[in-house]
Amino acid sequence: MYANDALNGSTILITGGGTGLGRAMAERFAGVGAAVAVLGRREDPLAETVAAIQSAGGTAAYAAGADVRDPASLEAAVASLEEEVGPINGLVNNAAGNFLCASEDLSANAFNSVVQIVLYGTFHATQALGRRWIERGSGGVMLNISTTYAWTGSSFVLPSACAKAGVLAMTRSLAVEWATYGIRANAIAPGPIPTEGAFSRLMPPGAVEAHAKQRIPLGRLGTREELADLATFLMSPMASWITGEVVTIDGGEVLKAGGEFNGFTDHPREQFKAALASMRPSK
Ligand code: COA
Repeated sequence: MYANDALNGSTILITGGGTGLGRAMAERFAGVGAAVAVLGRREDPLAETVAAIQSAGGTAAYAAGADVRDPASLEAAVASLEEEVGPINGLVNNAAGNFLCASEDLSANAFNSVVQIVLYGTFHATQALGRRWIERGSGGVMLNISTTYAWTGSSFVLPSACAKAGVLAMTRSLAVEWATYGIRANAIAPGPIPTEGAFSRLMPPGAVEAHAKQRIPLGRLGTREELADLATFLMSPMASWITGEVVTIDGGEVLKAGGEFNGFTDHPREQFKAALASMRPSK
């Protein structure tokens, strides 16, 4: 749907870009003209992502190893990437950590690990790039991957819910504070999209996938490509007057959970309409 130069002139760093949604975004951005740099803890997936982009014809793909929890390693990675690729003008804070656990069973380190990756990691990368953009007067674009339960909270993912809510607050705070420097900050709140990293931790085997589909009005899980397309739009000049916004991409899942009568949509429609007709006062 996009022109193949939709992101020409963009050089985009994607944290957690070696796998899952991060990789999907890297491949999509490169396919429409961006130079991409993927950053993560593990070398192999980063190298595979770069190779996949290059074999698809994207020449400008780079990788750097760093843990977003560690501001010094992140800063060093950004500096070395910029030596290779030139000034980075886009950032996607995608690196995340999450697992299902009853909150009373979380250790302090378990809570800390997820919050460090999701909230502190987003801050560290944001500050590393934001400082550069401000100093250069270049402006920049950032996109944070949040989640649909950032507003409501969610059982069994307490550290992630707390951290992702913080990421939303960060997005909105900086959208205003850094607008003066020509920096845009938006977020995406995805519903369930199958990736190895997320589903191995968040979808216990068996019933759960079918249950997830039943929760989603559009009747299916999302795809990486759908998320990558939305991210492409928000990172591109097509969204140049959008900032501080959070776009939900979840097939209607969150709205369905909130609407008092939405459960009736689970019944066969004709059967339900017959029940409604029987409730109607006769004339
Ligand atoms: N249930 C309860 N506690 C868990 C857990 C689980 N499923 N998985 C890890 N932990 C605890 C560990 O026991 C440890 O706590 P402890 O030291 O008190 O025992 C703490 O979390 C840190 O785990 P560790 O594996 O040492 O940390 P790490 O930094 O290597 O990994 C995680 C970070 C835990 C977030 C790991 O799941 C990860 O690397 N995730 C990245 C990918 C991901 O989550 N993708 C999905 C995103 S949606």
